Amino acid sequence: MGMAAASVKALKSDLSKVKDNALLIGFFKDNAILEGELKKLDKEYNGVIGSFIKSGNFKGEKGEVKNIYADKSIKNIVLVGLGEKEKYNLDVMSNTIADVSKRLRDNSTESFSVCLESFKNSKFNDEELAEKIALSALMGLYKFSEYKTKDKDKIKHIKQITLIINSNERFDNQTAYASIVAEAVNKTRDLVNTPPNIATPEYVANYAREIAKKSNLKCTVFDEKQIEKMKMGCFMGVAQGSINKPRLVVLEYKGAGKNQKPIAIVGKGITFDSGGLNVKPYPYILNMKDDKGGAVAAMHVIEACSKLKLPLNLIVVAPLAENMIDAASYRPDDVLTAYNKMTVEIRNTDAEGRLVLADALSYAAEQKPELIIDIATLTGASLIVLGYAGTPFLCTDDRLRKKLKEASEKSLEKLWELPLWQEYEESLKSDVADVKHIGDDGEAGVITGAMFLKNFVNDIAWAHIDIGTTVWSKVDKGILTKGATGANVRLMVEMLREWK
Ligand code: BES
Ligand code: MN
Ligand code: ZN
Repeated sequence: MGMAAASVKALKSDLSKVKDNALLIGFFKDNAILEGELKKLDKEYNGVIGSFIKSGNFKGEKGEVKNIYADKSIKNIVLVGLGEKEKYNLDVMSNTIADVSKRLRDNSTESFSVCLESFKNSKFNDEELAEKIALSALMGLYKFSEYKTKDKDKIKHIKQITLIINSNERFDNQTAYASIVAEAVNKTRDLVNTPPNIATPEYVANYAREIAKKSNLKCTVFDEKQIEKMKMGCFMGVAQGSINKPRLVVLEYKGAGKNQKPIAIVGKGITFDSGGLNVKPYPYILNMKDDKGGAVAAMHVIEACSKLKLPLNLIVVAPLAENMIDAASYRPDDVLTAYNKMTVEIRNTDAEGRLVLADALSYAAEQKPELIIDIATLTGASLIVLGYAGTPFLCTDDRLRKKLKEASEKSLEKLWELPLWQEYEESLKSDVADVKHIGDDGEAGVITGAMFLKNFVNDIAWAHIDIGTTVWSKVDKGILTKGATGANVRLMVEMLREWK
């Protein structure tokens, strides 16, 4: 799909020797001082930067971007405001770089350089900075234009991004890592954005096969007959109302010895969630193609880990189905028998995610992994908890919790933990079956969803991440582009990269 992404490289050079369409220089608020390298650059350009700042045209406010058309080796000198020094961090840097990248692209710029030194801060090191500049630009520049047929040739692209550095440090690892992760994020966005009439369970399963072939993964796909034979009753219940038959995808990556237990990632893969018989009213039914976001993220995480040759074993389990309305649909009041033999009373067919996950989690648990992480667009209630800023997660294991929190900080993907207190079990008690899949009153929706899933992980260390809100962006701002966000890809690769 998509167009070739910009390539990123680091280059040791004097600022005054740079040749490019644009050079980005960051300044803190009321601190636009030209010294050292910048002073030399200004001199080379006959003082245009100094006089621009002196005239009060640029203050260094956060989000402020001023272009000086220099028309020499550097065509445009771009002054980028970073705001107050105390408030500056990698988050601010990341969204600033992404916004400027979009702007340059929209102005038909095909390449730009970034003065690394000017975006520095004592809160992070050069390696982190280089990696995050590259990743942020590549994410911010994402666009989904697969289904546009007009003016294809007018679509604008940045082809080259150069990080200008003044030391002998090499940043090849950082730029390579950023390119692989950005590609995983953007391919996740592409597939999640692909419309539900195209991206059916079968289509996504075939996509997984392609990934496996290219990236040296083992891929097993179970079709509806096999899923039925395996007695995955919860998964089948959800799937039975659609003509687009379900698939269970299992991807395996072996980067460590045979005896090392794998880490399992389970991803919810509902290719379209109509709500089933409890149909979603307009406008809530819109964008429900994003309900496969967990599965698609997991697939690209394992691909990225393979490309990075990480020294660990991974297994991805992705139940793919469509939740539709039909004479054959499952109903409220149905009792389904899960893969682990538990009986589940159905109360609302729109709580389908936890049902497909129940069987996928049991399947993952059977593979005896070291731990299981599931990624799922499970609830609308996640919006109530944290809004669009972050993603709620729940966890049964201290070590895993710590790893997730560390990865969250490092990857800039914000996670926040919610509790799995016993009190919440109460609401899942059923009069007719072993459990209900939802509580009756909708209280603590994110938590009760997780409480239900906990029944299927066999006491294996487990975390549930609810990307119900963060899978999708309504805005085109910073690293975000309208539509799928590629949620949790950066986070997961970061966690696995540091895994020991
Ligand atoms: N896929 C939805 C959750 C969702 C809603 C994700 C909006 C993104 C945006 C999930 O299957 C669902 O419908 N959940 C219900 C659960 C309820 C019936 C207990 C919800 O959150 O309303
Ligand atoms: Mn639903
Ligand atoms: Zn759903």
